[in-house]
Amino acid sequence: MLKRYSPSVRPWTLAALSRAAFTIALIGVVESLVFGAAAALPSLLFVFVWKQAESPWSGAVTMAFAAGPAYLMFALSLMVVSAAMMRITGARTPTAAEMPIAEMPWPLLNWVRAMASTHVVRVFAGVVFRGSPIWTMYLRMCGARIGRRVYVNSLFLSDYNLLTFGHDVVIGAGVHLSGHTVERGVVKTGAVTLGDRVTIGLSTIVEIDVEIGARAQIGALSFVPKHARLESGEVYIGVPARPLSPPAILGTK
Ligand SMILES: CC(C)(COP(=O)(O)OP(=O)(O)OC[C@H]1O[C@@H](n2cnc3c(N)ncnc32)[C@H](O)[C@@H]1OP(=O)(O)O)[C@@H](O)C(=O)NCCC(=O)NCCS
Repeated sequence: MLKRYSPSVRPWTLAALSRAAFTIALIGVVESLVFGAAAALPSLLFVFVWKQAESPWSGAVTMAFAAGPAYLMFALSLMVVSAAMMRITGARTPTAAEMPIAEMPWPLLNWVRAMASTHVVRVFAGVVFRGSPIWTMYLRMCGARIGRRVYVNSLFLSDYNLLTFGHDVVIGAGVHLSGHTVERGVVKTGAVTLGDRVTIGLSTIVEIDVEIGARAQIGALSFVPKHARLESGEVYIGVPARPLSPPAILGTK
């Protein structure tokens, strides 16, 4: 059942603009807090290193060597703090919704806040940790329901609270998979569910409201359209994705 959020009749009303301005300000405040908290540990590391140094030169050299570990500490902290802040502030993608951009309803703006938070983490931490269990852990912290031994080697996933993956799922590099789409000025959302051992091939696009059965393989460079229900154990390829070996009764192979 789709929920359509539409608080006003005319687009770009004063109320809509006020909601947008408030949201932009809130994103600024929240992300400043998140950055500050995430930078606290690395800052302490730098202070410690500087205090141990016997001269400015040795201090500069040891701080240079501390820069790498400090960045890793920052990226790890950023994932934890950002995910916690998303939960605290209620930034998430609404389920099965249709939200006209021009009307700026609150659920759309909550979604914008979630997108902003996850984008910041993608830029500063995703490049380092994608494809690793740490990245999977971050997606879980943001609300994704993800099984064991799941590897997500793409940064083009979003709307984590609408994603459900079984065990042993692999998402190839460059895969676009999210719980939202934008069509004719309306943001539409829908869950994406992948069964155990599903593999999504390189650079494939998976649309909203999709369910893929266990052990299904989606070939590289394929397109899984919205509302698709793909069978367990099958191999699908192409645009749109079709079974690689259609049943003999169809007479195609
Ligand atoms: C879909 C896939 C699993 C099929 O592998 P397979 O079962 O060994 O099949 P084949 O390689 O023998 O290909 C069978 C046919 O499908 C075609 N085909 C294979 N993959 C295709 C794809 N992604 N798109 C379009 N056609 C494809 C082949 O050209 C071949 O066509 P033909 O019968 O006319 O010669 C594989 O090609 C693939 O795309 N793997 C993606 C793996 C990946 O990206 N993993 C992500 C983590 S790295």
